[in-house]
Amino acid sequence: MEIIRIPKIMQATAKGHLVRGRTIGFVPTMGALHDGHLSLVRRARQENDLTAVSIFVNPIQFSPAEDFQGYPRDIEVDTGKLLKEQVDILFMPDTKAMYPGGFLTHIEVEQISERLCGAFRPGHFRGVATVVAKLFHIVLPKRAYFGQKDYQQTRVIKRMTRDLDMDIEITVCPTVREKDGLAMSSRNAYLSAEQKRSAAVLFRCLSEAAASLESGIIRVQDITRGMQQILRDEPAITEVQYAGLFDPVTLGEIHEIGGDALLAIAVKMGDTRLIDNMLVMMKKER
Ligand code: PAF
Repeated sequence: MEIIRIPKIMQATAKGHLVRGRTIGFVPTMGALHDGHLSLVRRARQENDLTAVSIFVNPIQFSPAEDFQGYPRDIEVDTGKLLKEQVDILFMPDTKAMYPGGFLTHIEVEQISERLCGAFRPGHFRGVATVVAKLFHIVLPKRAYFGQKDYQQTRVIKRMTRDLDMDIEITVCPTVREKDGLAMSSRNAYLSAEQKRSAAVLFRCLSEAAASLESGIIRVQDITRGMQQILRDEPAITEVQYAGLFDPVTLGEIHEIGGDALLAIAVKMGDTRLIDNMLVMMKKER
């Protein structure tokens, strides 16, 4: 596995592969790799000639009050995991290489970025879109892979690539879960054993809402109320930021049953923010 730290060298390496007609599959990450990330790496390996992974904890997607400093970092363990997966290139720039002095350019995907998590993390998706656009220009992938757990992020990135004519296929892979349904996330490392057990309530809440839709509960308010109740009944949850049914494309609220929908949740357990989601198909008539 080639480890590259300098953007210009990464870009020249990628160009060298492209002129030889090789496709690059790319998995951008912030490290603290878990099975969710590795499932993206495996998919990238299946579908491309070369697999590139980036590890970069992107400061501009964290607000000053968030966990940039404390974000879990373990380069040695991560490198071992990527070697085992036979990744070809690991791109690991530092902050100065990505944001040299005088950096002034940002990408804003309007509307989609402001809803759901965007309402609680102002500027977050501007930071994500900016770094992902930079990474795409540096790594020059044919395809890039993201997890469905960060559903809103996938919508922001898809819209950015569409609006800016980036010739990159965005593949969204299923959320990888623990046995009890908890979605894998680097931030689960912040949870105590007891909080981790309690966090399984998110998946239970999504599954019960999906089952209610299946069994014919067809009022959006009933679904939303039921979800909020399940989350509020869990003592480890200290704040419910949102929980309900949303339009899977615009991420706006849904008022009527029919078509596809996104069940989505964001809660806090003490200082830890947890998100999860599920896509469902709602039938109008029963
Ligand atoms: O999902 C993540 O880990 C990050 O938001 C990403 C896409 C690597 C951008 O920093």
